Amino acid sequence: MSQAMTHDPRRVTVRAPAKINLHLEVGAPREDGFHPLATVYQAVGLYDDVTVSTWHEWSVQVRYEGLLADPDVSGASADPGRVVPLDAENVAVRAGRALVDHHGVDLAAAITIHKSIPVAGGMAGGSADAAATLVALDRLWELETSDEDLLAIAATLGSDVPFALLGGTAGGTGRGEVVEPLPDTGSWWWVVVGSDTGLSTPLVYRTFDELNDLADLDEPSLPPDLLMSLAEGSLIALPAQLQNDLQEAALSLRPDLVETFDDGYEAGALECLLSGSGPTVLLLCSDADHAREVTAAMHAAGHPRTVAVPAPVSGVHVVSYDGGP
Ligand code: C5P
Repeated sequence: MSQAMTHDPRRVTVRAPAKINLHLEVGAPREDGFHPLATVYQAVGLYDDVTVSTWHEWSVQVRYEGLLADPDVSGASADPGRVVPLDAENVAVRAGRALVDHHGVDLAAAITIHKSIPVAGGMAGGSADAAATLVALDRLWELETSDEDLLAIAATLGSDVPFALLGGTAGGTGRGEVVEPLPDTGSWWWVVVGSDTGLSTPLVYRTFDELNDLADLDEPSLPPDLLMSLAEGSLIALPAQLQNDLQEAALSLRPDLVETFDDGYEAGALECLLSGSGPTVLLLCSDADHAREVTAAMHAAGHPRTVAVPAPVSGVHVVSYDGGP
């Protein structure tokens, strides 16, 4: 890398949304250990912002904001399961390395993540950071990676990373990495109830295996009725069409979440659903006003990490490009 590149003052900031799964159907584990999925992803208005600039080595720092902005989460006493690793294990660094490997270039970057998506919350926050980093570095270094290649690199980084690139509403198959946009004319509102501690996704999948008779599991498929409701933007049947096969396993690991579900129904939610592998809980609302009321009721019920979000929202997008002096 040239000295000029090391002192390149340009910075690019890219925003990436959290995801929820309106339908998460899980099959018996494949030979590679992953579970075949049929899922309906929706991107929701809760974001991480990733800023990159060229640097002589890979580095990453994380600032906790929004729902996560308190010393219990980011301070020394924080639960290690809720703090993002800052070494080469960080998925944003892995994303950066994968991109330079793909192009055969010798570049590195300083990455700053402004984190609002719950860590280990079942909302694919790490995947959002990876997707944002790919797009930010592609723009910073003018690599002009094709969408097809970006999706392929994303799939190597994690099952949910391709969807973070896409955003909106999409079907996910394979292990979740094969994504296809779905028609969605609704303006949906969700209340996201964050948890004080995270939940390990592999542990939830292992518990799913223990709780289910794997030989009896059907091959997962996308549900036509839910797809119809989304295409029509119709809330009428939606509550009954939400499904998360990981919910039972997550609740068995975190029985306290049953109370969060009860509080959600008490607060007037149309339906309560676990987000991905949890422990974040989602409350379906009829509109923005309803979402505000439900949020206030959840705060009053002792759930301070609660926020109302719209869906669907766009996938990763550049929010600022600072060209330097
Ligand atoms: O791909 P991703 O990094 O999101 O996966 C995290 C972990 O979740 C995997 O290592 C695996 O244990 C589990 N997983 C799975 N089946 C999937 C997706 C994830 O078993 N379809």
